[in-house]
Amino acid sequence: MSGKRILVIGASRGIGLATVKAACAKGWAVTAFSRHASELDYSHQNLTKTDGDALIADDLAPALHDQDAVVLSLGVPFNLQLFTGPITLFSSATDVVLEQMQQQQVKRLVCVTGFGAGDSIDAIHPLQRLGFNLVFGRAYADKSLQEAAIKSSQLAWTIVRPGVLTNGEQKAYKILVDADSWRNGIISRANVADFVVDALDRESHIGEAPVLIN
Ligand SMILES: NC(=O)c1ccc[n+]([C@@H]2O[C@H](COP(=O)([O-])OP(=O)(O)OC[C@H]3O[C@@H](n4cnc5c(N)ncnc54)[C@H](OP(=O)(O)O)[C@@H]3O)[C@@H](O)[C@H]2O)c1
Repeated sequence: MSGKRILVIGASRGIGLATVKAACAKGWAVTAFSRHASELDYSHQNLTKTDGDALIADDLAPALHDQDAVVLSLGVPFNLQLFTGPITLFSSATDVVLEQMQQQQVKRLVCVTGFGAGDSIDAIHPLQRLGFNLVFGRAYADKSLQEAAIKSSQLAWTIVRPGVLTNGEQKAYKILVDADSWRNGIISRANVADFVVDALDRESHIGEAPVLIN
């Protein structure tokens, strides 16, 4: 097997699944990890499907063995809990992932959060921020904790902050690294996956948290 060995956490849907497909297409050895990974309606000779909960260290540890890099793309369902909380999945799972990566000396992490997490909230107009916080405030407060933990780790990290996600095809997209260029827009999950795989391939955007939009 040539190329990298990567673990994708949150691989059964969305950006995680798109990343699995893009990485398999490059010939990398990919482990798809999520609570329902074995139900994935996608197979490839380079793909291993591992059922597990990112909150449980004993689930994660064997999947991390011998990996070159981790892609973390967890999500919570769009339901009442978004409004009532508490939401702790992002920060709690990240604590487990960081601890396990440190123990197993896996040094490269690409994590998907979203535009509005961490200091990117400052790029949302105060009026729009009211609505954003009403709907996504609890989730993004936890994503901000997640980002802070990653930034204070010793890993070679990249944080990816997509705008509003679509299931559209891949097309040209913008990688907004500088804070003064950050703004909202739409972006396809396929484009986010393309960015993630490219950043791993080129070892680029280390220590950066770009916003991605079309
Ligand atoms: N929707 C938007 O417009 C938007 C915009 C910006 C950013 N984002 C963010 O982008 C990310 C990806 O979103 P998406 O819609 O592409 O994917 P998604 O449908 O939210 O998928 C989430 C993944 O997380 C896995 N997961 C959840 N809890 C888990 C756990 N405890 N252990 C292991 N795996 C777990 C799920 O698989 P299982 O259920 O099988 O475990 C699933 O594969 C999310 O963080 C989302 O908030 C979304």
